[in-house]
Amino acid sequence: MTGLQVLDAPEGTLIAGYTVEQWLGAGSCGVVYRARRGREVVALKLQSLEHLGGWAGREVAILLRLSHRNVVGFRDTGLHPVDAPEWRYLAMEYVHGRPLAQWLEEENPDAHGVARLALGLARGLEAAHAAQVLHRDIKESNVVVREEDGTPVLLDFGVGDYTGAPLLSHEALPPGTPRYRSPEALTFSRAWPLGRYQPTRGDDLYALGVVLHGMLTGRPPFPDAESPEGVDAVIHQPPASPLEHNARVPEALAAVCLRLLDKRPDARGSATALCAALEACLSSSGEAGWQVPLRDATTPGAPPAPAEPRTCPVAGLAEDSNDAAAPRMRRRAPSLVVHAPLAWRRPQSRALAHTVAMMGVGMSLAGGLWWAGTWRPSLGATGLGGLALERARDTPGQPAPRGPAAPDQASDLQR
Ligand SMILES: Nc1ncnc2c1ncn2[C@@H]1O[C@H](COP(=O)(O)OP(=O)(O)O)[C@@H](O)[C@H]1O
Ligand SMILES: [Mg+2]
Repeated sequence: MTGLQVLDAPEGTLIAGYTVEQWLGAGSCGVVYRARRGREVVALKLQSLEHLGGWAGREVAILLRLSHRNVVGFRDTGLHPVDAPEWRYLAMEYVHGRPLAQWLEEENPDAHGVARLALGLARGLEAAHAAQVLHRDIKESNVVVREEDGTPVLLDFGVGDYTGAPLLSHEALPPGTPRYRSPEALTFSRAWPLGRYQPTRGDDLYALGVVLHGMLTGRPPFPDAESPEGVDAVIHQPPASPLEHNARVPEALAAVCLRLLDKRPDARGSATALCAALEACLSSSGEAGWQVPLRDATTPGAPPAPAEPRTCPVAGLAEDSNDAAAPRMRRRAPSLVVHAPLAWRRPQSRALAHTVAMMGVGMSLAGGLWWAGTWRPSLGATGLGGLALERARDTPGQPAPRGPAAPDQASDLQR
């Protein structure tokens, strides 16, 4: 195995004709750089083919189905390097802006600002659902707020689903992030740990409810949602109204949030209904109370939530590294990296790079052979040993051990 998880591509690295300019962020399944080709600036996401198997193409397949101002736009895709592909690259519209958590922390918006932002997300979700796409990982780090006009843009459909998508996950729950799991998903995984839950639009709406709750109060509706007690609470206890945590939240907006967090998926309505409810909120937002920042200017924001790992389709980076707790633009790649060969870097250094690269390739090959023979058997101890197994599980075409369908899982998407 050569590829690990993240391609460390310093500024100037050439990838499929794009010149890397800046590190933008990394999550559990890839790394994203701002890159340029001529005058075109894109966000370039790189995912390891070996590591992610079929999942590496999922986001491309989904973005090709979507075109909406609140959903990141598709530009280009391919394999890299061409002669011996190790990575899938996905070039997307570059959204110049801030991740949602950082935006909230720095802007301290009023209720009107939060409702406007939630409406943008609801519209993006409405477009996805209309195209038979589920996002399945709605959370703050998968939203960037555009600097120019404050438009929220939904990113990272990497573990999403669409009608007719190949089956890649055979776990009880698909990849996702624990804190944003719906009560029905958690109920299912407890009752049928060997089954396979089929998420619905209701799961996306619930996750959006968790995000809205955080925007209004600075905290999730159920703290500690990963512990067994926390899971109990998500399944059985009604969430506290955002008003109980923050008296500045207008009642109408608190009601919208509570509706999204309802235990009954049907009671959450649809993304379209959510848009209508938020538009109604905005039309009454001239009233007193809607223009007051949701926290005191002097009060620092709630401490940023700990980075929330998503259960990556394969053992991957543990967490999103662009949350409010992390420096906005990291200069350093995460620890498990594959360095871009010098040959991919700036044209002016090509001659030297070529020579060095050839030497490097030779040394790498020799080193790789030595490594394969010497260390590979011990990888299990470092947590990488599960990769082969995970990849085998994710190989399209392998029979999926399907579990019983839960009675209330009338999935609105086929898989
Ligand atoms: N199109 C984009 N424009 C600007 N920033 C982006 C874009 N796509 C991703 N990013 C940044 O990179 C981070 C990681 O991207 P993401 O697609 O969420 O990767 P992962 O699937 O690994 O979680 C995001 O949280 C965001 O901050
Ligand atoms: Mg992400």
